[in-house]
Amino acid sequence: MIGKKIYKFEKLDSTNDYASKIAKESAEGTVVIADCQSKGKGTPGKTWFSPEGGIWLSVILKPKSASCISLMASVAVYETLKSLKLPVRIKWPNDVMIKNKKISGVLTEAHGKNNAIVGIGINLNIPEFPNELKSVATSAMLERGKAFNKQKVINILIKQLEKKYSLLKKKKEKLLKEWKKYANIIGKQIKINISGELVEGKVKDIDDNGALMVEMAGGKVKKITTGTISAEL
Ligand code: BTN
Repeated sequence: MIGKKIYKFEKLDSTNDYASKIAKESAEGTVVIADCQSKGKGTPGKTWFSPEGGIWLSVILKPKSASCISLMASVAVYETLKSLKLPVRIKWPNDVMIKNKKISGVLTEAHGKNNAIVGIGINLNIPEFPNELKSVATSAMLERGKAFNKQKVINILIKQLEKKYSLLKKKKEKLLKEWKKYANIIGKQIKINISGELVEGKVKDIDDNGALMVEMAGGKVKKITTGTISAEL
């Protein structure tokens, strides 16, 4: 059960790193939360701005397969923020956006054979971002001009994670369908940056593992597992 055991800290380097350390001896569903992180980790190689006011948490999961774990978490975040009436959408693979600014990101790290550490960052009550993030990041507070009750939002998120994780295990097709609806990308012409190489094509579908299936100019379909969508045409 997600959230049966919750560890709370005022400050950690990274909730993902702490969760990795205790993963082996912890039950599935254990949650690690910090009010702020001094070395928050973003998608590989990047840091994650983690001041007080945001939701920075990691969940220890022990899935049979790590496939679609991040996708599942992004659907749970989407539902959580949607319930606050924020106009969110999912951006492949698992960013949650408001217009073209990111409000939440997910970083799943495998640990040992069966442990997946699912790190979720939500910019909730963050009044201001550093200059370099201003054009790419937003927070619930900035969108609404008011603070949200953080504990309430954490409770909704944990419930949603429980629900979507169970859906992933029992009815993966249904979860993928929800993701497709929230990401609204199937059929769109996109430009995607894969380690510096720009690929352009039409999104046909996502496969069972959450990979993007993109039809290239010649009609060949390419499976894309990592990359950043730079433009939706
Ligand atoms: C991304 O770059 O989109 C992923 C961001 C993930 C941030 C969260 S905050 C809680 C957890 N601990 C970390 O160090 N990172 C993740």
